[in-house]
Amino acid sequence: EPLTIAIDGPSGSGKSSVSKAVAGRLGIGYLDTGAMYRALTWWCVDRAIDLGDHAAVAIAAADLPLELSADPEAQRVVVAGTDVTAEIRSTAISAEVSKVATNTAVRPILQQAQRDRMAAITAETGGVVAEGRDITTVVAPDALVRLLLTASEDARLRRRSAEVHGSADEHAIAATRDQVLRRDRDDSAVSQFTVAADGVVTVDTSDLDFDESVEAVLAVVAS
Ligand code: CDP
Repeated sequence: EPLTIAIDGPSGSGKSSVSKAVAGRLGIGYLDTGAMYRALTWWCVDRAIDLGDHAAVAIAAADLPLELSADPEAQRVVVAGTDVTAEIRSTAISAEVSKVATNTAVRPILQQAQRDRMAAITAETGGVVAEGRDITTVVAPDALVRLLLTASEDARLRRRSAEVHGSADEHAIAATRDQVLRRDRDDSAVSQFTVAADGVVTVDTSDLDFDESVEAVLAVVAS
């Protein structure tokens, strides 16, 4: 049976780094669905498409010239030949991505692209770890293993701050807080993480370091 693993969670739950490590350990491919929303946002900004024009953004989604590598150790995001791997993580794109992600005409288009991509990666590597915010519920509710990674707000802000500012001191956390909490709020129409959906296993990483989080997920996969 193909090893399809769906992982959802909020920003700073450790979802991306843990998902990549789990895919690496299991020798299967990886799909970062957030990178697809980010790449589409970058593409619209680059082409001066008004993010408030829902129909225009949906057309851009359907035609998005995106290349994503499935190798968890060599993630590269290329849009129309431009490597945007670093740029899609910028604060500018992070601040705009929810506008694209809450566009109800866009979501089914990217969700279907994600299902197709999961199938292609699975055919190639025997499985896939797909991570995002609606993978366990909408994109792949039939995945073999479904997980929700959670963490306390404190832990999430500490991690995101270390990631974005290279520090988790008071000032860096204060700078991160507004951005993270605002995006949580902007995303709340598409993702709520208070309770896991039926059949989804919750892993709380608040008190786990990176290695412990990876082991916790692998333990669920093995069970
Ligand atoms: O890096 P972080 O976990 O903060 O976010 P991400 O996984 O890169 O996702 C970026 C944004 O894409 C989220 O804030 C959501 O707006 C959107 N997203 C979504 O709506 N559905 C997904 N399956 C994945 C991401």
